[in-house]
Formats: sequence, C-alpha cells, structure tokens
Amino acid sequence: MPADRTYELPGGLTVIRTQPALGAVVSGIDLAQPLDEAKAEGLRRALFAHGVIFLRGQDHIGFAEHLMLAEAFGTPICDGPDPERPQITPVSAKAGSREGTASSWHSDGCYQPSPPSVSILRGIDPCTFGGDTCWASGVAAYAGLADELKRQIDPLRFTTSLAARIPKNYNHFGTASNWEELNEKYPPITQPVVVVHPVTGARALYANSTWALGIEGMDEEEGQALIDRLSAEFTRPEYQTRWQWEKGAIAIWDNRIVQHYGVPDQTTDRYLERITVQGGPMLSIADWQAKRKRIPEQA
Ligand SMILES: [Fe+2]
Repeated sequence: MPADRTYELPGGLTVIRTQPALGAVVSGIDLAQPLDEAKAEGLRRALFAHGVIFLRGQDHIGFAEHLMLAEAFGTPICDGPDPERPQITPVSAKAGSREGTASSWHSDGCYQPSPPSVSILRGIDPCTFGGDTCWASGVAAYAGLADELKRQIDPLRFTTSLAARIPKNYNHFGTASNWEELNEKYPPITQPVVVVHPVTGARALYANSTWALGIEGMDEEEGQALIDRLSAEFTRPEYQTRWQWEKGAIAIWDNRIVQHYGVPDQTTDRYLERITVQGGPMLSIADWQAKRKRIPEQA
C-alpha cells in the first residue's frame, strides 16, 4: 500500500486516502463517459489497496453507467426484485428507523458459498445529515491480533446462514413461508474465520457476529465467545473509515476484506441502489497455500 496520503494512478486518477487502515476518494472519473481500461485498472488497484473507495459528483448518471462501473470489477449478480434491472438491490430507509439500515457489522452475502466479491452502492436520494456508512478493515483487524490468537483462528471455520439469524416472525423478508424458502435457499454453510484475498494475498478477519452461528468443532458457548471477541475488533475506530453520503456519491468495497455498518441515524428518508459482483468461494489460508503450490511460477 502506498505510504502517501495522496497519489496518482495511471488513467489520470487521483487517490486521496481517507484513513490509514482503509478508504480512499478517487477522482478523475466521469462515468457519463466510457470507462477505458486504464481507468478501470486504476480503480481495481485503488480498491484492492484500500478496501473501500469513493467517487463523487456522479449525479448525472443512471442505471447503465452504474452497471458499466460494476462490470469493471466482474460479472454483476442478477437477484434483485426488478425484472427490468435485476442487478439492482434497492437500499431504502425511513427517517429515524433502523429498518433497512444494516446497522450491524457484516459482509454482504457471507452466508452464500460464493459471496459477492465487490459491492457498488450509489446514492440516488441519500441522506446528507446522518445515515453515514462505516467500513472496517478485516486486514488491519487481523494484523492487530496477537500471534497466539492468529495461530488459533487461522484454520477455523464458522457456520453461517441467512435465515437462521432471522426470527421466523420477522417481516423484513415477508411471511413465515418466505422464511422457509430462505432457509431452503441458504442452508447453513461454513466459511473461513480468516480469509486470503485472491489477488493480493492479504489475510483478513472474516467472521462477523451478524451472520455467524458458531465455530465448527467448538461447543456453542465457546464458539460464540470467540466470534464475539473477534467481531469486537471491527468496532475499533483505528480500523474504520466513515462516509457521509451526498447526491452523486458512489461507494465501492471489497466484501472479502472489509466489513460495513449502516449508521441508523438518518434524518430524512433515503434511497440508494446497490449492485454486487459475482465472487468465488472464500479462500482460507490453507486454500491459498494449496493454490500457490499448484501455480509455482506465482510463488
Ligand atoms: Fe450490506
């Protein structure tokens, strides 16, 4: 990672980091113009270096340009409610309500066997006072752990499920029959407690209390205590960056190495749209080492 707070990237991009652990505002892009390969590569480099990047002044673009931006990071996932724009997940919240704000530390879709690699959230009608979003670096959180704890958690996996964390009578996803469908669609799976970024090789803490149900091979109480201990790392301000929304702002984050939290103090109703990009299975340290043995020229 570059040591300077501000630096230039090929493609005419300027990077201004928001915090030492993660986050950067990238300027030099007008999404109304086609995104050439130099700019796309610059965005990927900035994202992989800083975990979450922000663009400003893109209030003149629409769905097509949002999609074009997402495609710079891979293949957009089509699982949204609008058949005309299935790539879009609406993210809306009412003033003063916790509903829809995602106000707990999490990584999008970690309960899926192949979680999204990157999320791209566009402020359509954002709240400009309150309703910030915070991100925390799993890389910094892992690096800050004691060596003994790292050795303990490196090989561990946690169990995770979308439906299992949601009470059956909770209405956000609809009716009880809807819950049964969710449980069938997302049965409990396991994910590595510590993951490795497939491009950079960075190690990151991935377990989070929002979707984790327990630690594989540990009794429930012991596993939950460890998850709570590790999740607490994301609450340290030195591992975080915070974004105040404005119209035309876009946040892009790497789901594999950062967690995020929607602060539920929006003073007005707000509306954002998210596109997520298809990822692969999360790599444990052992998966990463095995992969590198199979490709010795990259070692
Ligand atoms: Fe989220």
